[in-house]
This record gives sequence, structure tokens and C-alpha cells, in this order.
Amino acid sequence: MDGRDLVRSVRVVRAVGPAQGLRSVRSAWRAWRADARALPRGGGERARVPGAARGAEALPGGGVIHFARSSLRVRVASGGAVFCGWDGAEPEPSYALAGACPQVDARAVLEPDTEGGWRVVSERVLVAVSRHGAVEVRTPGGAVLRRELPPRWWDRTDAAGASGAGGRPEAGGASRWIQRSEVAADARFFGLGGRAHGPRLRDGVYRLWNTDPGGAFEPGDDPLSVTMPVQLVVADAGTHLVFHDNSWDGRVLLREGAEGAGSGHDRPGSCELRMDGGPLRYWVLAGTPARVLQVWTALTGAPALPPQWALGYQHARWGFGGQDEVRRVVAGYQERELPLSAVHLDIDHFDRHRVFTVDRARYPDLPGLARELRAQGVRLVSIVDPAVKAEPGDAVYEGGAACDAFVRDARGREVRGVVWPGESVYPDFTDVRVRKWWGAQYAERLTQGFAGFWHDMNEPVSFAAFGEQTLPRSARHALEGRGGDHREAHNVYALAMAQAGFEGLCELRPAERPFLFSRSGWAGMQRYGGTWSGDVATGWPGLRSSLSLVLGLGLCGVPYSGPDVGGYSDTPSRELYVRWFQLGAYLPLFRTHSAVWAGRREPWEYGPEVLEHARTALRERQRLLPYFETLGQLARLTGAPYVRPVWWSAPRDRSLRDCEDAFLLGDALLVAPALAAGVTRRPVQLPRGRWYDTATGRAHDGPGQVWVDAPLSRIPVLARAGAVLPVTGEDGGTELEVWAPKAGRGGSGLVVPDGGDGWQRPTVERFTSRWEGDRVVVERRDGGAVGYPVRVRGLVDA
Ligand code: NOJ
Repeated sequence: MDGRDLVRSVRVVRAVGPAQGLRSVRSAWRAWRADARALPRGGGERARVPGAARGAEALPGGGVIHFARSSLRVRVASGGAVFCGWDGAEPEPSYALAGACPQVDARAVLEPDTEGGWRVVSERVLVAVSRHGAVEVRTPGGAVLRRELPPRWWDRTDAAGASGAGGRPEAGGASRWIQRSEVAADARFFGLGGRAHGPRLRDGVYRLWNTDPGGAFEPGDDPLSVTMPVQLVVADAGTHLVFHDNSWDGRVLLREGAEGAGSGHDRPGSCELRMDGGPLRYWVLAGTPARVLQVWTALTGAPALPPQWALGYQHARWGFGGQDEVRRVVAGYQERELPLSAVHLDIDHFDRHRVFTVDRARYPDLPGLARELRAQGVRLVSIVDPAVKAEPGDAVYEGGAACDAFVRDARGREVRGVVWPGESVYPDFTDVRVRKWWGAQYAERLTQGFAGFWHDMNEPVSFAAFGEQTLPRSARHALEGRGGDHREAHNVYALAMAQAGFEGLCELRPAERPFLFSRSGWAGMQRYGGTWSGDVATGWPGLRSSLSLVLGLGLCGVPYSGPDVGGYSDTPSRELYVRWFQLGAYLPLFRTHSAVWAGRREPWEYGPEVLEHARTALRERQRLLPYFETLGQLARLTGAPYVRPVWWSAPRDRSLRDCEDAFLLGDALLVAPALAAGVTRRPVQLPRGRWYDTATGRAHDGPGQVWVDAPLSRIPVLARAGAVLPVTGEDGGTELEVWAPKAGRGGSGLVVPDGGDGWQRPTVERFTSRWEGDRVVVERRDGGAVGYPVRVRGLVDA
């Protein structure tokens, strides 16, 4: 046990009480012993590099290059994504890919290159492979986006020193490997899932192992619950995304480059990926940011569309205490005319913290409560934890045990961990049978009247006094019939749980889109729902982290997320609460929540001034709901997140690339939150074009920095000249808000009208704006009637 373990055990005991603390010591000991018995320790390893190229073979979409000690498959898919697989690794099986691997682009051909190398030429990228196994990804114009040096493996050897058959391990085996890459000196890194600091990822080591940080996190804490080997790299030469399809534990070492200030000696940026095992295979996608996200979404699946109500404001609470208190809080919102869309019940509404149960003493009639709230336009959302109390007689445990649903150790015994209900077992979501069984459990939740689901503790967590707060690495998993252990299954556990919940709900309630968001996840999780920050620390740094997380996740293809407004861990100051609330109002998941010990989050608890400012933010959110709905539909159709970095449409603008304190909400709005105490004015880095301060109507011309007012009553929001966006009008119907284009210019916007909470096919309506004489006119691109009232803004300065 090291110092960190000691601090952690004190925290665990403090959080869960002495009895749980004792269990967590036992469980940590059991995990340690299981791993010591089942996992290879010590033994030999032999380093290997590909060696010299021996020849190549053309195959559809590219080919295979054979080296002395490995081979590399290069395969271009029809959307332009390039797959590279070493040692025989193929794109499938994969938890990230949505359905079947995309068709190859038959036009991509393998041909000999200079100096004994090979290249695959395709429409969007050129992949050049040197005769020693370095791989360059270039734009069609020849600019190098990424240079991968030859990888290095450490193959395990047996006692006699022999490695796998033919001197090579099986693809997907337990050889460690490293791959080092270089990018342009001006490149910036983004992504890697949800990181506490960013969105620009500075020099440092980022771990790929989904982790409950155990207590609240803030910038500097790494890793968190959603890690993904997905990097978005933005440079003058172009934008590209690299996805290493490998769910094992790993580390990414990033180092930004430096430009040689006229000396001509640039130091390239570098990225080193060190994986503990698993296949060395990756995808590279290149193009504009919008194009890259579109191809990524085609590869890993369209984001689930939240139902309309999930875009409204939601209130969560750990510790409501009972149904009367829920009623009282909802009434509080209504009396003050504050819109409220949903209330989230945490683990305290369960019977002794057991999943899929209800504490009947505190909630004697949950279905009745749900009906009553529903009549007032408020849905109930339920927390769902994966761990099941391991106790004979517990219905969920008995049901799971009967179908052999729980993770076992290498000796075939159920793996026991410790979570809120005490000693618990864990469903193996990597088994399709178990997913089906688990999905059916949501019937109980639907009967209770819940409309949405909040997956928690699914890294998965097991409280441990020392060692890792998760299952032993040797725990066995089905992995879709291939069989394997927790080293491979850990990072996809929550993704597979989300799949189970989503598919179960689709079966149980086929007419409605499920609403599900999950603390942990992996590449592709957007297919089943969104995520949230987890336990972000109350404090100004935590507020910053909230924004970093949402931006970073959006660039990894997960558009729907948001923080615990107010921070999770403590009571925020009035100012901090207001600023968090104001930021939350412009993020897809807008939800207040906190730890049971951290005070309340109802806006009126912070005094009349705060209440007024929160009301303003809530009203603005209501007004923007049609825009949020449109952005949700566009995220599904195109992969473009609701919340985008300011460089989204201008990745070559370096000052935008470094801007981390503002974001674009769709194409039309630029939001500049107040992220520090005492802010009343702030600088904003504008992209090219004219931008209107939506509060004052004042026009600012970009690119460049401007100062705008940020009084406590609101955060600055700027609208792009020419933008057309749908908003709620005063009569409650949708109207078009149009920001006057710059003289001589036009503008545009899209509207995807709400089609209800089912599976209706969206219709995309396209509008343009332009000057005609001294007035701004709006037209529908297809020539039809505009069909909405139009309100033009920003005329004064046009
Ligand atoms: C951890 C979650 O992150 C938090 O939101 C929740 O309140 C607690 N678990 C209790 O369920």
C-alpha cells in the first residue's frame, strides 16, 4: 500500500462508513490475490520491430505490406477513413464500430513508392509506408499530417524463451507495444474522451483506463470516467482524427511542437501511445473538422437523439428523502414559474441502495408520483448502477445468477466487489445473453413511471482500500464469445451496459426514443446516449473543467453531455452558482446536481438576486429549445456536436485554436461564459465575420479580440451576422430569429422541426438571409413558403 492508497482508504471509509470500509479492505485483498494467481507475472519479454519490408500484396482498398517480423494491412474505406492493422489485426471485432466495417474504396490502390517503400493513394489521403514500417499520412496535396515511426512490441516469451507461433504473437494478444508519432510543429491535440483540463491537451501523460477519480475532480486529475483512444489533431496542414481501436489500459504521452522562430528548425509535436496489450490497429480520418466528425460518426454510429424533454432543464438530487420532498421541490419551481423538465432520483430512492428496487417507506407510490409530475410536464429519471447486491433472495441477484449473468474469476467463482449496497456482483455486459437479461430489468423502472435513465458507477467501480477501484484484471468476460479478461473488457464495460439498457428500452417501449446517459463509456457510446461530467469539484477550476469535458467529448463524437451545475462536492458561492447555471443553460445536458453532503441546488436557495439571474438563464434556454432540437438532429445526421470549439470552421486560425474559454453553439451563436470570480467584462476571440452581442445588439467584426460586458445577470452570447435560427416566440410557437447579414453578404440557417419523442424521420428546412434594398429577407432554399414568423435583429449596426 503506498501513500496514495492510504489517502484513498481514508476517503473510502469516510464516504461509505466503517462497515463498507472493512468490506473494501477484504475486496481489495481478494482482487490482489486473484490477479496474483491468474495473471502472468515476471517472465521474459522479447522486443520486436517490423524489420525490413519483404514485399507487398495488393488487396481491395489497399494491400498488405510484409515485413521480416510483422505485416501491415492498409485499407481505405469508402468514406475516406484509412485503416492500418499490424500483425494481422483486422477492423473487426470492435466495440467501437457501428455494425459492419464500412466497404472498401475500390479506387484506393497500393503501389511501389520511392526508396523501397509502398503507398496507397486514395481520394482524400495518401498513405506512404517506408521499408522499415514508418507510416506517413499525407493530404492529397502532399502535406504530412502524421508520421508514425515503426512500432515496437514486447512479446511475452515462455520459460524457454520462445515467443508465439512463427516468432509473432497472435493478433489481439497480450504483447505490450509502443507507437510514436510526429505531427506538425503548430499542431494542437484534442479529444482522448472527457479530460478535466483542456480542451486543448497540453504536454503530459493521459491514461486510457476509465476511472472514478474517487472524490471530486478538477483540472489536473486524470484519468476520469470516459477515456478514449481518439485524438483530434488540428494543424495548418489540415485536421485529422486518429482512433486506436484497442480497449486495453494505455498511456498517451503528448508533447506539442515548437516553431523555430525563423531559424527554420521546427520541433514537431509528438504523441507516443503505450499499450499494455491488444491489437495495434488504428483509423485515420482527415479533412475539415466537420468532415472528420461526419466520417467518424459514419464509422462509430449516429448519436442517439435525446427526446425533446431531455433538452430542457433538469434537477437531480442525492438525498430527496422521500416523495413529499420531490413534490415540494417541483412545486417550488412551479410557484416561481421556473421551467423544469425532469427530476432525477439518486440511489437513496432504492431499497437499501439495491438497483431496480424502491424504498417503499419513502416512496409509497412512485408510479402515482410519476403520473402527477408528468401531468405538470415533469419527467422522472432513475439512476441505474450495474452492481447487484450479492444476496440470496434478492430478486435481481437470483435472476442474474439463474442465467449465469455475473462476472467470474479465473477459477469460475463470482467476482465480488463492494459498492453502495454492500458486497456486490457485476453483470458481464460483454455477453449478448446478459445484455438481454439486463435490458429486460428496465421493465420494473418503466412500471415505476421513470422516463429516463442515468447510468452510474460503471467504470465499473468497486470500493477498494488499496489497489484499483475496479474489478480484478484477471476477471473473466465473454467478450462476445471470444473470451478474455478485464484488461480488455474494462474500458468497454459501460459502453456495453449502455447498449443493454438502450436495446432493452427499445424493446420495452418501442414507440419512444430511450433517454439514457452514462458516467463511463468508450468510443461509440453516443449510439446509446450521452454522458455527464461525473463528480466535478465545486470551485472555479471545476467550472472550467465542465466546459473542457463537453468540448472534448463532442470532438470524440459524443455530443450530448453537461456538468453537475453548481459542482458536485461542496456548496458554491452565489456568484459561482450563477456562473455555472448560466454556462449550463447553453450546454446540451442542463442539470443541477450535487453530493448528498454538498447542499441544495434549487436556484431560490441562493437568494433573490441569484434566483432572478437563474430565471433569466432558464427563460433563454426555453427560448432556444427549437435551436437545441435542431442541433440534436444535426448531430445525429452529421456528427457535428452542439457545442464546438471556436476554431470549428476556421481551424487554420491559430488564435482560435488556442482559445479555451468560449465555444460555438451550432453555427449561429458564440457563447463566452464567465469562468472566474469577479468578472464583469471579458475578452472574446472572434472568428472571421460580423458578430452581434445579443444583449446589446452591438456589432463586432472578426477575426480578432473584442471586449464585451459580462455582468452577473448574463454571460455574453454573440450571434453570427446572417444567421437564421429557430427560437420559441412569445406565443409559444417557433419563429425564426435572423441576424442581419453584413452589407453585401448573405447568411443561412437550418431548422429541423420537432417530430415528437418517437422515431419520426426528420425533415431539414434550409433558409437563407440577404439584403433586398433596405430590408433583410429570409427565404426557404426549396422555394417554399417560409412558414414561420420572422424577427430580424441587429439592424441598427448593419
Ligand atoms: C456517483 C455519481 O457520480 C453521483 O452523481 C451520484 O450522486 C453518486 N454516485 C451517488 O449515486
